[in-house]
Amino acid sequence: MSIAPSIPHVIDRATCTALDAADPLAGYRDLFDLPDGVVYLDGNSLGALPRATAAHVQRVIAEEWGTGLIRSWNDAGWFTKPLDLGDRIAPLIGASAGEVVLGDSTSSSLFQVAVAAARLRPERRVIVSERGNFPTDLYVLESVQELLGGPGRPLERRLIDDDDPTLDDVLDGHVAVVVLTHVNYRTGRMYDMADVTRRVHEAGAIMVWDLCHSVGAVPVDLNGAGADFAIGCTYKYLNGGPGSPSFLWVAGRHQASAQPAITGWHGHARPFDFDVEYAPAPGITRFRVGTPQLLALAGLEASLDIWGGVDLEQLREKSLRLTELFISLVDSRLARWGVEVVTPRQSARRGSQVALRAGVADGYSVMQALIERGVIGDFRAPDLMRFGFTPLYVSHADAWDAVAALEDILTTETWREPRFARRGTVT
Ligand SMILES: Cc1ncc(COP(=O)(O)O)c(C=O)c1O
Repeated sequence: MSIAPSIPHVIDRATCTALDAADPLAGYRDLFDLPDGVVYLDGNSLGALPRATAAHVQRVIAEEWGTGLIRSWNDAGWFTKPLDLGDRIAPLIGASAGEVVLGDSTSSSLFQVAVAAARLRPERRVIVSERGNFPTDLYVLESVQELLGGPGRPLERRLIDDDDPTLDDVLDGHVAVVVLTHVNYRTGRMYDMADVTRRVHEAGAIMVWDLCHSVGAVPVDLNGAGADFAIGCTYKYLNGGPGSPSFLWVAGRHQASAQPAITGWHGHARPFDFDVEYAPAPGITRFRVGTPQLLALAGLEASLDIWGGVDLEQLREKSLRLTELFISLVDSRLARWGVEVVTPRQSARRGSQVALRAGVADGYSVMQALIERGVIGDFRAPDLMRFGFTPLYVSHADAWDAVAALEDILTTETWREPRFARRGTVT
């Protein structure tokens, strides 16, 4: 893995604009429709709108739906769309064609694969995950434990923590499945996928990766790591749009034996025979459930056009350069307020976001004050301000401007204004 060219020791805004001028990915920003004056550092939650998306979705609505009507299931390739788009996501995650399919929400895709994973180890009664995982993963796993454990005796759950207990502390011959998120949603800490997968396999268990904060953010090599199952969302770094469907990946070696949780008609071997009995389709198709959300898939299709030409090594280099730049600016300009970088400083352990604790200030209010100025990040309870660095449209000057805005808000104590403490439903 190449490491980001280091950030010069003394940084000013001109240094940042010079880095932008030399940036091989700078041209991608023009493919996005970002409002003027906005520094968008929340692509790790909802990606920006590609310029081509509106026209493409409009065409699908007007031509494929409006004119084609029901004929579009065949003529416009609607029926195979989840598989076709899955094949286009595959190179971004180190998967092969025929291993990825688009599903429903990430939560439901996790249910779909976690049940299949646990069924591959029927004699084992433990599911491992991590306390700091995105909560929906833990909630979904609770129901997998109930469902597969039998009446009154759910499968056991073991949760690892950063240092205690560790993965090695909980792995033994009883563990059926390990479900971990590759890049942590709060801290941006990244696991070594190959190393973790190897240890899980040594214990005889099945490895499921959540790639929500990895796909389109860092290079991923599922087959290289020998992983078993993965899921991820497409509305963050892939820019598929709000509510664009999740994807799920099943390693080729499991596809003939894996039994998904939900056996819907789109996963049937012959859906248009309308048989009374379920017969699983071969390959990844059996993980399909029902009618795909074609308008949401149209948004994703437009954004995937951008990804065809992206060099993932350049993407990683830029991501590391941006996060390194942001961290060094925070260190040099915000330390006097006790602002603390929570994200790992070691580049191999960092995804494409930086989380800060606000020190003497209230992080939620600081974030609201930033958003009012057009610097958009978000806040994760209890105390983390998150800043996502999407290499396709975030510039080095953006990182500079964000820290300058933070410094001003802390200096003037604008964050203390009562309106910034008001909580919205979504933080
Ligand atoms: C790591 C992770 N997993 C799962 C989800 C939830 O996904 P969905 O709402 O698509 O079910 C998120 C959402 O941000 C996430 O960050």
